[in-house]
Amino acid sequence: MAFFRTMNFSEPLASIAGDGVSLRTPQMTDYGEWSTLRETSREFLKPWEPIWPADDLTRSAFRRRVRRYAEDLRTDQGYAFLIVRSEDGALVGGLTLANIRRGVAQAASLGYWMGLPFTRRGYMTAAVRAVIPFAFATLRLHRLEAACIPINAGSIRLLEKNGFVREGYAREYLCINGIWQDHLLYARLAEAANA
Ligand SMILES: CC(C)(COP(=O)(O)OP(=O)(O)OC[C@H]1O[C@@H](n2cnc3c(N)ncnc32)[C@H](O)[C@@H]1OP(=O)(O)O)[C@@H](O)C(=O)NCCC(=O)NCCS
Repeated sequence: MAFFRTMNFSEPLASIAGDGVSLRTPQMTDYGEWSTLRETSREFLKPWEPIWPADDLTRSAFRRRVRRYAEDLRTDQGYAFLIVRSEDGALVGGLTLANIRRGVAQAASLGYWMGLPFTRRGYMTAAVRAVIPFAFATLRLHRLEAACIPINAGSIRLLEKNGFVREGYAREYLCINGIWQDHLLYARLAEAANA
């Protein structure tokens, strides 16, 4: 029954094309560029992300990350992407559809980060726009959720310009930068009526 559908990707996912960027599954060969970009962006990203484990940027931690992403994809639990600039193939950021809930929910949580040298050039807007048909048409989700700290102006603008509607406020929702922080809750539904 379509309503209770889960996905089963036995083949690697094809990359998703967007406007000036594409989204593709992380591979071990991305380690060098990924770790350099994350290190360069550490202070920029720190206020908006969970605390990075001490070994987060090591090759072995990246290998575990890649394996976990592959397993999540295989079991339809999550879909992690790197965002690559089309003109030169530069890795610019990442985007994840996590915590896939099938059954009567058919929902997922959207997360994202942009490398500091690449911010405010429209790349994340293009990446979110590109993942929306994948989420709703390919994965057949009904609902995409996202949450952000009330002072995260960039994230709020990104969500609102991509048709996400503010639905609520959750107290101490996620532990970000080591502190349980209140979050604004956003969602976009499969029907684009609210876009
Ligand atoms: C939020 C984030 C992903 C946006 O990525 P980006 O590639 O810079 O986004 P875009 O260039 O597509 O911009 C999207 C919109 O947000 C606006 N914006 C981006 N950063 C902003 C900022 N710091 N303050 C205010 N507005 C901002 C842009 O101007 C644009 O709006 P516009 O089209 O009306 O001009 C990026 O800033 C980031 O990684 N932040 C740190 C990590 C983070 O916040 N993660 C999400 C946690 S919920």
